[in-house]
Amino acid sequence: MPEERTEQPHIVTCTAPVNIAVIKYWGKRNEDLILPINSSLSVTLHQDQLKTTTTVATSRSFQEDRIWLNGKEEDITHPRLQSCLREIRRLARKRRNVGDSGVDSASLSHKVHICSVNNFPTAAGLASSAAGFACLVYTLARVFGVEGELSGIARQGSGSACRSMYGGFVQWIMGNKEDGKDSLAQQVEPETHWPELRILVLVASAERKPVGSTSGMQTSVKTSCLLKHRAESVVPGRMVEMTEAIRKKDFAAFAELTMKDSNQFHATCLDTYPPIFYLNHVSQQIISLVHRYNKHYGETRVAYTFDAGPNAVIFTLQQHVPEFVHVVQHFFPPETNGADFIKGLPVNCASLSEELKQGIGLEPMPKGINYIISTKAGPGPCVVEDPTQQLLSSDGFPK
Ligand code: DP6
Repeated sequence: MPEERTEQPHIVTCTAPVNIAVIKYWGKRNEDLILPINSSLSVTLHQDQLKTTTTVATSRSFQEDRIWLNGKEEDITHPRLQSCLREIRRLARKRRNVGDSGVDSASLSHKVHICSVNNFPTAAGLASSAAGFACLVYTLARVFGVEGELSGIARQGSGSACRSMYGGFVQWIMGNKEDGKDSLAQQVEPETHWPELRILVLVASAERKPVGSTSGMQTSVKTSCLLKHRAESVVPGRMVEMTEAIRKKDFAAFAELTMKDSNQFHATCLDTYPPIFYLNHVSQQIISLVHRYNKHYGETRVAYTFDAGPNAVIFTLQQHVPEFVHVVQHFFPPETNGADFIKGLPVNCASLSEELKQGIGLEPMPKGINYIISTKAGPGPCVVEDPTQQLLSSDGFPK
């Protein structure tokens, strides 16, 4: 083989999705291995609206491992990055020894250059670490010719990242082994299972979250007895009920469990000492709006869930999207009512009856919501074949 060909970096690009938990993960029993105190369940969001793209290049000419995130070089020595790199290389070495690694897998001694971008603003407080670590692990695995179960490695980047390794409806089984080998994600139903289900991300604020999930949950584990009760006595039953609600496409049951679990997670935050507040006045107004809307119709048509930040994620069925978006627009009048307010899947126009407005009866809160991303459940990580989409040039440096 001519010398210059071996010098050409081996380049792979992949994308991975964001996920939103409907049964929340909050609290670890092992900080290094990222082992949770309870199982959790999430919906993978469609990558047409929210995704991370990662390109990894390897070459014998690279001096060291390096990483660029959203255009800026970051510290590769970050322990969680190091865990993912180490575990993928370990798995690749193991497979190579038994002789079943991919033919074009990069040489294990070679250093990697990693470049990663999101198609949504990181500052919007959406779950970028889940998509980010899922994408990193998936791409590294492709580069080194590693196949099979990878959620256990993604988990060591960020707990919720293990759920972004699959599409559709995904559970993270907490496991009970000391070494974490049984703490893995698993698809419950594929993304095609419930085509009517729609997801609206209401971006409430562009501020960064006050307390990060990692340190927030540490304090909760240390101080909240409600969290202990939740993990031991509430979540196990809810995992069964939620799986069943999804299997049967029972929206009312799915919605009620989703809202109750979000509320209990935020209650454990309040039970943390000192307390943590992720919900703000806009989030509280959204909660009231959803309950009043459902009450008006005498059925559960819409559900909310909130992670470690004030943004709301709304679940509803396709037929209710136009009206509910209109309701949000009415009660949170945006600065400009243009097309910019709704991003993602197109939303048809709808009119609001006076009866509905009065039934809800809230005082409008101008500019409370910046914009809405309209999306649905989507597939897991995938490889990008088109070389023009690579984030690293043929010299292995960001374009
Ligand atoms: C509230 O996965 O971000 O979004 O494992 O420390 O990286 P680390 O935490 P992270 O926590 C996510 C918490 C949550 C709930 C959830 O996604 O289940």
